[in-house]
Amino acid sequence: MTRLLIKAGAEVQIIMTDAATEFITPLTLSTLSKNPVYQSVTSAEGWNNHVELGLWADAMVIAPATATTLGKLANGIADSMVVACYLSARCPVFFAPAMDLDMWVHPAVKENVRRLQSYGNTLIPVGNGELASGLSGDGRMAEPEEIVALLEKHFAKKQDLEGNKILLTAGPTHEAIDPVRFIGNRSTGKMGLAIAEAAAARGAEVQLILGPSALQPQHKNIKLIRVKSAQQMYEAAKDYFPQADVVIFCAAVADFRPKNAANQKIKKKPGEEEMTIVLEKTPDIAAALGKMKTEKQILVGFALETQNGRQHAAGKLRKKNLDFIVLNSLTDKGAGFGHDTNKVTFIDGDNKITEFELKSKLAVAEDILDEVVRLQEK
Ligand code: C5P
Repeated sequence: MTRLLIKAGAEVQIIMTDAATEFITPLTLSTLSKNPVYQSVTSAEGWNNHVELGLWADAMVIAPATATTLGKLANGIADSMVVACYLSARCPVFFAPAMDLDMWVHPAVKENVRRLQSYGNTLIPVGNGELASGLSGDGRMAEPEEIVALLEKHFAKKQDLEGNKILLTAGPTHEAIDPVRFIGNRSTGKMGLAIAEAAAARGAEVQLILGPSALQPQHKNIKLIRVKSAQQMYEAAKDYFPQADVVIFCAAVADFRPKNAANQKIKKKPGEEEMTIVLEKTPDIAAALGKMKTEKQILVGFALETQNGRQHAAGKLRKKNLDFIVLNSLTDKGAGFGHDTNKVTFIDGDNKITEFELKSKLAVAEDILDEVVRLQEK
């Protein structure tokens, strides 16, 4: 694979685990990559800087990713240079598992793969065939040619958003009731993260303002501000807004918050069967920034509706001064909160309606960005 990558014009730096050195010598890989091979966080010369390597790379490929390595990556156990570098990497990460067929289907391995994917890393699926154990089945590492082709496809991505600054709100908000409780919603941030990654991969500089979410953006062109409440999201978005060329409001912002959040945990009172929390409106971030919108800015909103979707979405488009709105329905199977897929309809200012199939959130993100580019060219 090293040979193929070099042939494709890549600059390659290699880190090996101790187990890997039992299969191939570091000298062989050093000769092929024309660079030193790293094995441990410390070396005779001192400290090997995994942070620097992690920042240097445009992509990190972990191949073969054994069951042990997957477990360590998924849990952040940095007892090797590979995992230390992985934790410092800001670039897209690809992993190509390789193991025996029973290991591959074990729930522990499946869970680790799922977790890595939830961090935004890309799984390079295993192949089927003869395995090191002599058994035959799933678990073979993808062919090097296949891995290199995937990387070439990744880098060949159009850079049609280069020079654009994109402001993106994503995830839910938490509105404090007291120091322990909050009002929240079921948004995970997956759709927003998919837009952030896709936009960064297409050359944009992304300022992501993310409500409470377990997800972590990967691309180095994504700057992240984490917030909790609608108010904090509003303040952060308002500050960045004047520099933004494109703004995408993907967050599921609470419409109301407790009017007086308690400073201490609210206690049950003897005999109390009901309690009332008075709510007040939160700032409507999209509407407020829509008022400040200049001619050359493009604003995109989302609408999640359970009934009369198109009509409500079109109303929001106007009220919030958006260029187009992405309608998703909770009633479509596989669409909405927590899913990796989504089914959307775009509605624009001319009332043009474009309906899409159910597809991955990453593919939906590409469709949204295609529409942004189309509007910029108009
Ligand atoms: O009015 P509704 O909440 O349905 O509008 C959804 C759109 O408005 C989404 O793009 C959402 O991110 C944005 N929004 C906002 N601030 C709010 C409420 C919604 O930016 N307080």
